[in-house]
Amino acid sequence: MKYGDFDQANREYVITRPDTPEPWRNYLGNGAYRATVSNAGGGYSFDGDAFLKRVLRERPRSLPDDRPGRYLYLRDRETADVWSPTWQPVGADLERYECRHGMGYTTIRSARGGLAAEVTYFIPVDEHLEIWLLTVENEGKKARSIDLFTYAEFALWGVLKDLMNQQASKYVGVVRCADGVIFHETRTDSGPPKGDEVFVLRRAYFGCGRTPESFDVQRAEFVGPWRDEGNPIAVERGRCSNNQYFGYDPVACLHLPLELKPGQAETIVFVLGVDDEGTVWREKLDHYTRPEQARAALDAVKAYWDDHLRRLHVDTPHSGMNAVVNAWNPYQGVNTFLTPRGYRDTSQDVLGIMHMRPEEVRQRLRILLAHEFQSGVTTHDYSFEEDFALEAGGTRIFGDGDVVSLSGGATIEEQLGSPSSDASLWVIPAVCAYVRETGDFDFLKQPIRFFDGGAADAVEHMRRILDKTWERRGLHGLPLMREMDWNDCLNFPEGSVSVWVGMEFVWASRELAALLRRPEVGGDPSGVEARAEEMARNLNEHAWDGGWYARAFFADGEPIGASSCEKNQIDHMPQSWSVMTGVAPQERALSAMDAVRQRLFTPYGIALIDPPHDEYIPRYGSLSVFPASLKENGGIFNHPNNWAIIAECLLGRGDRAWEYYHAFLPSTKNEIADTHRMEPYIFSQFVAGPYHPLHGRAGRAWMTGTATWALVAASQYILGLRPDYDGLRIDPCIPTDWEGFRATRIFRGATYEVEVVNPKHVSKGVKEVRVNGKPIEGNLLPLAAAGETVEVHVTMGAA
Ligand code: GLC
Repeated sequence: MKYGDFDQANREYVITRPDTPEPWRNYLGNGAYRATVSNAGGGYSFDGDAFLKRVLRERPRSLPDDRPGRYLYLRDRETADVWSPTWQPVGADLERYECRHGMGYTTIRSARGGLAAEVTYFIPVDEHLEIWLLTVENEGKKARSIDLFTYAEFALWGVLKDLMNQQASKYVGVVRCADGVIFHETRTDSGPPKGDEVFVLRRAYFGCGRTPESFDVQRAEFVGPWRDEGNPIAVERGRCSNNQYFGYDPVACLHLPLELKPGQAETIVFVLGVDDEGTVWREKLDHYTRPEQARAALDAVKAYWDDHLRRLHVDTPHSGMNAVVNAWNPYQGVNTFLTPRGYRDTSQDVLGIMHMRPEEVRQRLRILLAHEFQSGVTTHDYSFEEDFALEAGGTRIFGDGDVVSLSGGATIEEQLGSPSSDASLWVIPAVCAYVRETGDFDFLKQPIRFFDGGAADAVEHMRRILDKTWERRGLHGLPLMREMDWNDCLNFPEGSVSVWVGMEFVWASRELAALLRRPEVGGDPSGVEARAEEMARNLNEHAWDGGWYARAFFADGEPIGASSCEKNQIDHMPQSWSVMTGVAPQERALSAMDAVRQRLFTPYGIALIDPPHDEYIPRYGSLSVFPASLKENGGIFNHPNNWAIIAECLLGRGDRAWEYYHAFLPSTKNEIADTHRMEPYIFSQFVAGPYHPLHGRAGRAWMTGTATWALVAASQYILGLRPDYDGLRIDPCIPTDWEGFRATRIFRGATYEVEVVNPKHVSKGVKEVRVNGKPIEGNLLPLAAAGETVEVHVTMGAA
């Protein structure tokens, strides 16, 4: 069954059946205030920190999975017929339905019984509020009297508090309706204290600039006992209770009468915002509840995303790739970037999106480096600010809601330092990529503080991270695995070493060495390079298993991810990384990547390991806890699929790189939506592998490092538009049946209009590059002045 398709001209995904296999969501917002919204109106909001500062509630694992949401009910006063313009929560049959998920907004249009409704949910650029722009139209021949009801469920406190401390969170909310506006406030200790106030005041408001006929501020009053959002008592009755009291479950329910003559339409704008100081709500309501202002704000949201997306635009022979690369992939990438998820993921998140948000990436890199101790250890968690929330009480508060006590014997570093072996290294290639994208060498000269005081420049920060990994080596001179590496679930006994982290170390070292060699930096790369060489030697001497690289070793030398193992005989990660980092000599590189194709590739992408574990064995860690073929235990983990694409591009095997890209490309899931189940416009974290009966079913949509890397793999390796220190390099590796492609890339302010032709149907190799009509030597486009447009014509073939 097909549930929708791409509208590429409008950068939308259009869902035409509401009963998608799972709720298909969009993320809204560009900065602090953000929200999710499903194709059935479900979803929640948060202001700044997704864990600590929820605005609307998410009810995890609810039925359906997207409850509650921003609900609307239309009730005919004559017939008492009730329906929801977003289909859910009432679920009444609709005569028309269409949901357009777009860049920064979602519009749902529907009709039933002669009434048509259109609601657009969005968050104006840089505002701390969300808008529900609703139009109801009488399409029939007789006048209609309609009751309109709204529903939204507040939770102005941290997620953990909402879930775990219900005896408190259930009774602390204060909510009232005054002059048609619903105000909710609460004092919460979920976030950092303010002066001596541990319980800080948070406030939200909801209004539409009209006086409601009735209202409810308590969930129990609106919904009634033994009912749910689908059949609230207030809607059935046609009237809310007007009962006001504090505590319990604050909601925003307004009841508005609509009198619609035949052909008449009415537009109502609901505004839901946060206003902790209590100073802006009136002005915001006055402004945005005017439909023309709301529409202008919606246009501004579209213009905002246009400005992001025009920086890379591709026109390839594959329409699904175009749909993903020109809109949804960068959009998902920005959304993951806006949602910090620990040091490791956050460092990677910048990679695919820095051409759209260079200033914020600069800032983010500073923050990441400032989470490094003088010793070179970085924290595992991550706070939004460079100057952390360190208070008198001796606590530091991190973005994921953990409050770590600094009292007790252990050092801060022991308490907060990352237990993983890989996390800190990721920031090094991220810094180098940023400088290649922007040419901002000045970044490297600014002092950045250490977490435990003092400051140094970025190069010194990076050196210390490498030093720390070097210091923490074990068997075969390879990095100690510690509690995990990129794979969270490789939790091996003490003394185990990670082959893959050895490769990551080589990569980070070589990236830093190349930066040090730059005249703008003028550093000495020799020490860094020598260590990289030694590590690469160790890897080749000890980790080569005959056909591929082993993944890790226990302290006694027993390998993991090797042919002698009973389970997990091959792990994808070190194969692709041996190529990406240049560790593997050519013959080994080809052998390792062929093994990936033979042992791990499925029609839905590359499984992480094979065969997966089928029972828990303590020394294999939490990997062996998952059922076979799910998640890290041999699931098709999408994030590393990008590394196989990059590796195959580096080997020049464009057909195979494309085969891998095509297998996990979201748009290819459109036709198999009932198998894949999750959104066919964004990457999910994993897909069930071949040992699971639901092989092909996606898990965990949206928040995954896959997004940022997929844009790197597609744009920099398949299409080969690769930022370099001295210019933009053109090095495509495409399927042989492509005639070529076009791309527009804005790089350091200049616009490169690139046309690639492939008359000989090769995968790789650039025969000639013409810049503004004139041939150049090599494939590095020289830097052009900001504002200039550069015409680039590339002919592929043997050089
Ligand atoms: C999740 C984590 C990420 C980790 C990956 C593999 O995506 O967020 O940090 O690398 O799983 O375990």
